[in-house]
Amino acid sequence: MCGIVGYIGTQDAKEILLKGLEKLEYRGYDSAGIAVRNGEDVRVYKEKGRIAELRKVVDSSFETSTGIGHTRWATHGVPNHDNSHPHQSESKRFTLVHNGVIENYEQLKREFLTGVTFTSDTDTEIIVQLVEYFSKQGLDTEKAFVEVLKLLHGSYALGLLDTENPDVIYVAKNKSPLLVGLGEGFNVIASDAMAMLQVTDTYVELVDGEIVLVEKEKVTIKNLDGKEIKRKPYKAEIDASDIEKGTYAHYMLKEIHEQPGVMRKIIQEYQDEKGELKIDKDIVKAVRKADRIYIVACGTSYNAGLVGKEYLEKWAGVPTEVHVASEFVYNMPLLSKKPLFIFISQSGETADSRAVLVAIKELGHTALTITNVPGSTLSREADHTLILHAGPEIAVASTKAYTAQIAVLAILAQVVAKDAGIKVDVDLLPELAKVTAAITAVIDDAHTIEGFATEFLETTRNAFFIGRTMDYYVGVEGSLKLKEISYIQAEGFAGGELKHGTIALIEDGTPVIALATQESVNLSIRGNVKEVVARGAKPLIVAMEGLEQDGDTYVIPQVHEMLAPLVSVVVTQLLAYYAALHRGCDVDKPRNLAKSVTVE
Ligand code: F6R
Repeated sequence: MCGIVGYIGTQDAKEILLKGLEKLEYRGYDSAGIAVRNGEDVRVYKEKGRIAELRKVVDSSFETSTGIGHTRWATHGVPNHDNSHPHQSESKRFTLVHNGVIENYEQLKREFLTGVTFTSDTDTEIIVQLVEYFSKQGLDTEKAFVEVLKLLHGSYALGLLDTENPDVIYVAKNKSPLLVGLGEGFNVIASDAMAMLQVTDTYVELVDGEIVLVEKEKVTIKNLDGKEIKRKPYKAEIDASDIEKGTYAHYMLKEIHEQPGVMRKIIQEYQDEKGELKIDKDIVKAVRKADRIYIVACGTSYNAGLVGKEYLEKWAGVPTEVHVASEFVYNMPLLSKKPLFIFISQSGETADSRAVLVAIKELGHTALTITNVPGSTLSREADHTLILHAGPEIAVASTKAYTAQIAVLAILAQVVAKDAGIKVDVDLLPELAKVTAAITAVIDDAHTIEGFATEFLETTRNAFFIGRTMDYYVGVEGSLKLKEISYIQAEGFAGGELKHGTIALIEDGTPVIALATQESVNLSIRGNVKEVVARGAKPLIVAMEGLEQDGDTYVIPQVHEMLAPLVSVVVTQLLAYYAALHRGCDVDKPRNLAKSVTVE
């Protein structure tokens, strides 16, 4: 969370920074700020709220070709003007933007800076004040910066300006993502290549434990002992049009609509020239070697993992557990003898998941990351990667990444099964083609689903999702989507668990969305619907064609029931989207959230 950018060159830095921050707003939108300089004159503009608010306070007549910028997701200190970045040292010589969390900031403050007046409640300010402290001890800026980095515990991506060395942006990272972008006569920094695609598609990855001096004509990477490091740049393979909304009202709607295309892309990418499903041989070997798979993920990616577990167990025959990353890291279960870890992460940057990756790598275990972002931290640090090919996902609420994660897990399980000689009664390629058509049919019928959203969810305070087996997992994901963007208190429950407590919450008119796509539990979930209706609930039954029906509200086209989550979830995505829209919520940027959760 939080996004940072920087530019040093010859063009108007203000506009480049502001445009860059607009592209990074998905990382946090509590406040934003830029610092730009003209010679020794450094101006800081910052504002609570969105980049649009920041734009209003930036003096457009100030001439500048160097600056740094920040969009904030608050961790330490409430979202207000003073806590917004950039932060400055007491003398205002140094100016800094930071993404991450400094865990030992209070201790450092006590140890070094008792006489210094702080102007914010942030953990960040300690860094900039410490740079000044060490420079006052006689160190040059580079050495002072390195000295500070050695003291910091936690995560950071940093961009630092110094009025006495105005031709350099000092840069460093630890755990938080940061790239340097290269141009002709200018260079940039960004938390995500998307931010600076406006000026360059050529980037250099930065590694923890380095300091980087970014100048107009050159970029120097060094380790903390001052030894220079050479690293090859790469081309960011993102089409600028992929990150525009086009004609859609919101990114979320665009991304829901992109799902059939994503399914087709996945089918194409994971197929060999003979038309058979393919997965890298080493990955298949790693799965086959494992006596147990541990899926580790957060939020929607965790929910996709629940579905993936079914494929890995039922098709590939490998016992699989699914764990919430933030719990796993503090409370590791007793591991099997030959575990394989699968990290599922759209962004590939989620700090909670990365903490587990670091821990299990220290134990010498093998990791596979399934991510949408090639070159992301979780991808780089794992032994193997499978790419989702979903294209950039910008809306904070994940949609197309979820369906892509499930499809890729299904393919992995089938390829492993085939390699192991296990017969699976689902011919995945034609079945995925059917799924693609079914998703298209649901999207084409969005108007009907909008009607349900208005009828069931426009004014309600709470809502429940129920389902059994695969449908239970979709219910959990459906409820997460609904609550995060519409602020309706929504929960997903296993149908059978209702009578063990949750049914007490059912009142007259409470919407209960029941998913009924699985033959083996079709009658029992319908029994649960009757139980809640008897207590006043208003049921919305999402069922699958071909199953025995009873007052169903919406019927999705028939697909193999193991793949039904890929279709039924789209109904819940559209319900959430339209509920949020009609309740006047900011669909793409729900309150308190950020797309890429890079703090633990
Ligand atoms: C919800 C959502 C989040 C993410 C979670 C993990 O719509 O998007 O729950 O799924 O923060 O993020 P990634 O997948 O990037 O690790």
